[in-house]
Amino acid sequence: MIYIAPSILSADFAKLGQEIAEVEQAGAEWLHVDVMDGHFVPNITLGPLVVEAIKPHTNLFMDVHLMIENPDAYIPAFAKAGADLITVHAEACVHLHRVIHLIKEQGVKAGVAINPGTPVSVLSEVIEDLDLVLVMTVNPGFGGQSFISGTVRKIRELNEIKQQQGLKDLLIEVDGGITAQTAPLVVEAGAEVLVAGSAVFGRPDRAGAIAEIRNSVRV
Ligand code: DX5
Ligand code: ZN
Repeated sequence: MIYIAPSILSADFAKLGQEIAEVEQAGAEWLHVDVMDGHFVPNITLGPLVVEAIKPHTNLFMDVHLMIENPDAYIPAFAKAGADLITVHAEACVHLHRVIHLIKEQGVKAGVAINPGTPVSVLSEVIEDLDLVLVMTVNPGFGGQSFISGTVRKIRELNEIKQQQGLKDLLIEVDGGITAQTAPLVVEAGAEVLVAGSAVFGRPDRAGAIAEIRNSVRV
């Protein structure tokens, strides 16, 4: 099963409700919410207020990607706002194990993201506790960047660890530069959740855009 997670970062924020309804009708399963603080990444986006505002208007699985320093300070607020899964960056957590368990204590699924420059090995002591690993396929901060092809090797390495350790419920997500051209490469390597921002919201025909990505990975 491949899940498509449109990222609202590339949506029109002046009509967010309508934008989300469109991708939901078009058959997306997840909604990816990019939270940036201007410190961990050089951009600022949104906070729990926006998640809370969206939540009653959609049945999409709310996938909250925290690109922020000190994520532990904000995890309870995002959980309360309606996140179904919260992903923190390994690079932003001094006490990664503690942060993962803080997420789970809120009754929310837990993910850890790794930047292109971070090896899979940073996850070795926590991988069994995770619901998801997010392999960044661009450096986080902005939508519309080009896919870094060297990350495919890391997706494959992570998938091998997943198979070897029998972590059948662990999801592998990818984020950044995913299009109908790059999706087959990451799915072949083991990715199951595909975040797509500009490839979906950058096109007027969202249903067509989602169908194109889905068809590109259909075997
Ligand atoms: C990048 C964000 C992504 C971004 C992806 O920092 O984490 O979720 O929205 O956008 P595209 O699909 O346009 O690369
Ligand atoms: Zn993201």
